[in-house]
Amino acid sequence: MIALINDVLDITKIESGSIDLEWRSLHLAEVLSGVVADMQSLVTARSHQLVLSIAPGLPLVRADAYRLHQILYNLLSNAVKYTPRNGQIWVEAQEYHAKNTPDHIRSTLPSERRFVHLAVRDTGVGVSADEIDRIFDRFYRTENPLKVEAGGTGLGLSLVKPLVELLGGRIWAVSELGVGSTFNLLLAT
Ligand SMILES: Nc1ncnc2c1ncn2[C@@H]1O[C@H](COP(=O)(O)OP(=O)(O)O)[C@@H](O)[C@H]1O
Ligand SMILES: [Mg+2]
Repeated sequence: MIALINDVLDITKIESGSIDLEWRSLHLAEVLSGVVADMQSLVTARSHQLVLSIAPGLPLVRADAYRLHQILYNLLSNAVKYTPRNGQIWVEAQEYHAKNTPDHIRSTLPSERRFVHLAVRDTGVGVSADEIDRIFDRFYRTENPLKVEAGGTGLGLSLVKPLVELLGGRIWAVSELGVGSTFNLLLAT
């Protein structure tokens, strides 16, 4: 209930343009290790294997630490919840490459900014092609075998997407039903 109220408050803040951001240069590895530490008990409880892979020499990202943590925590908790027990979850950070970015995202990127590409990948229940865009809508939840067990409000991604964009980044998902999902983030440097 408290999580629901906080999400609604954050959505209200985003809509009224009253989110305060504390811009900092952040080491993605540090932010990720904090998120993974907060998530570890849930990962262990579901007997998942979590693999973190961060390319060496990545530039610092420009972001608000609290909001970036919130974004990554949401994506990782979805991966944990929507993956059957004994699954695998990968968190991979690498340099931005145009070839790894779909046209509809690439065409919206300001040419003067540089980005880091972060992917959260799982072996979960997946999302069908006709629902993949709708999961970012408020309250939208897919019918899937883990829907009830996972619980949730359907607000997480509807908050994550505008937060990512407030930070100057982009998000898109690629998924196959019954195989797994990848949530891709471009984070501004
Ligand atoms: N990693 C994932 N694997 C499969 N489905 C996912 C994943 N992440 C999100 N979804 C789908 O998108 C929906 C919306 O996600 P979200 O906004 O975080 O809401 P919630 O987790 O509260 O249901 C989920 O209910 C689920 O149907
Ligand atoms: Mg969620």
